[in-house]
Amino acid sequence: MSKKTTGLDFLQATKHENQPASDQKKGLEQPPLQVPYEESDGPIIKLKGIRQIKTDNVSLREAIEERKTVRMYENKPISLDELAYALFMTQGVKRNVRDKATFRTVPSAGARHAFETILLINNVEGLKRGLYRYLALEHKLQKLEAAPDINQKIRRAALKQPQIEEAGVVFLWVAEPYRMTYRYSERGYRYLFLDAGHVAQNLYLAAQDFSAGVCAIAAYDDERMNTLLGLDGEHQFVIYLASLGKV
Ligand SMILES: Cc1cc2nc3c(=O)[nH]c(=O)nc-3n(C[C@H](O)[C@H](O)[C@H](O)COP(=O)(O)O)c2cc1C
Repeated sequence: MSKKTTGLDFLQATKHENQPASDQKKGLEQPPLQVPYEESDGPIIKLKGIRQIKTDNVSLREAIEERKTVRMYENKPISLDELAYALFMTQGVKRNVRDKATFRTVPSAGARHAFETILLINNVEGLKRGLYRYLALEHKLQKLEAAPDINQKIRRAALKQPQIEEAGVVFLWVAEPYRMTYRYSERGYRYLFLDAGHVAQNLYLAAQDFSAGVCAIAAYDDERMNTLLGLDGEHQFVIYLASLGKV
């Protein structure tokens, strides 16, 4: 006998035939491609364009064969260029179509690209520790205000996993569900979780190209993590993390 569970309810409620008309169908204006920012929100750091960044030229085949989860890292910094490369490989914008849609290095359902990337910096050359935001449309970083012990707090929210403070940097992907549900209604939630997988996988593969390792992280306290990043958990929530460090 089948038992009703939250997971099955989710699958049922997100079936195509159970979707109400989306806001896009209703003719409403779409949300912006990226959460708006002000120059006054924090210092902006320019990143090198991807073409100017040299990596080890590891073949795709080798990257896939060699990829594995790494949770213990060398105490060596990630360079700013390596970080720029990792950011571009995970969310980099290859084409901006009249500010209506973007095509990026990762696939996304309907090219909705409903993520923002927040970085927790522990050890990256030229960057102070703390929180930063990747401005994907501009390929720049912006430093964010954060408590001096934010690195420790984020480790605690990630159920005290040591790699959070031992990695050079931790990627925290934030979902902006309305960017997705605007077109797909509740079914859009499925796509957020699918999209997040592509992003993390690209980080795993990109890391193979500059002697670094990655650990995907989904074990964290949602409430605490969202609160630390100032997210309400509804309009924005942390969907996935990954640590990145030198091996
Ligand atoms: C969705 C997902 C969540 C994960 N969460 C964690 C985590 O919170 N902590 C951790 O140490 N590893 C985490 N991992 C890493 C897995 O444990 C790892 O991928 C698995 O053991 C297989 O090892 P491999 O990646 O080396 O092939 C996660 C992986 C995935 C795909």
